Amino acid sequence: KLTFPFKVDIDFATGHVTAPAKVLTRRLSDLQGLFMDSAAYEQMLSRENPVLYDVYEIQVPEEAGHLASCTTVIYPGKVGKEYFFTKGHFHTIEETAEIYTCLRGEGYLLMMTRDGRSRAIKMTPGVSAYIPPYWAHRTLNCGGEPFVFYGVWPADAGHDYAAILDKGFKQRVMEVDGKPAVTE
Ligand code: 6PG
Ligand code: NI
Repeated sequence: KLTFPFKVDIDFATGHVTAPAKVLTRRLSDLQGLFMDSAAYEQMLSRENPVLYDVYEIQVPEEAGHLASCTTVIYPGKVGKEYFFTKGHFHTIEETAEIYTCLRGEGYLLMMTRDGRSRAIKMTPGVSAYIPPYWAHRTLNCGGEPFVFYGVWPADAGHDYAAILDKGFKQRVMEVDGKPAVTE
């Protein structure tokens, strides 16, 4: 089936994308069980349920051959000493890669394999990171302003959150002495 060329405009400051984009908003309550300090999590949730991140997905057919893309905006904040992060996932089709390019702010891209390898890449504007096939990925905002990045991946890749909800990520980024530190 023939699809026609199109363009969108991306606002690097806010991550907003002109149509056709689908917006996905994740709040604190959507990340139950993922932050290290569960007492801090419950305490925060009893007071407020902030938006941790918004995803603006540029819609294309979810079929082999197409490339999906989105901006993700992670807002600044922490649960206890741990910076706000995305849920993180493997792709359902695990042999699919992804590219993340930072547009604004300061963050980390955490990656891990099912057999226990892990890598962290510091993301600042202009840094473009390659997530190879088989690597789960999570991003976080360790700065004081919104962290915005643009991601591109095979449109049929899908998301597999199960392993992350079960075991989490090996590495975490926490504030230590007022600075972000990657812990093993
Ligand atoms: C993808 C991308 C990216 C990601 C968002 C939110 O494969 O779709 O990695 O769009 O989904 O940054 O992260 P979570 O899906 O882990 O919540
Ligand atoms: Ni992905």
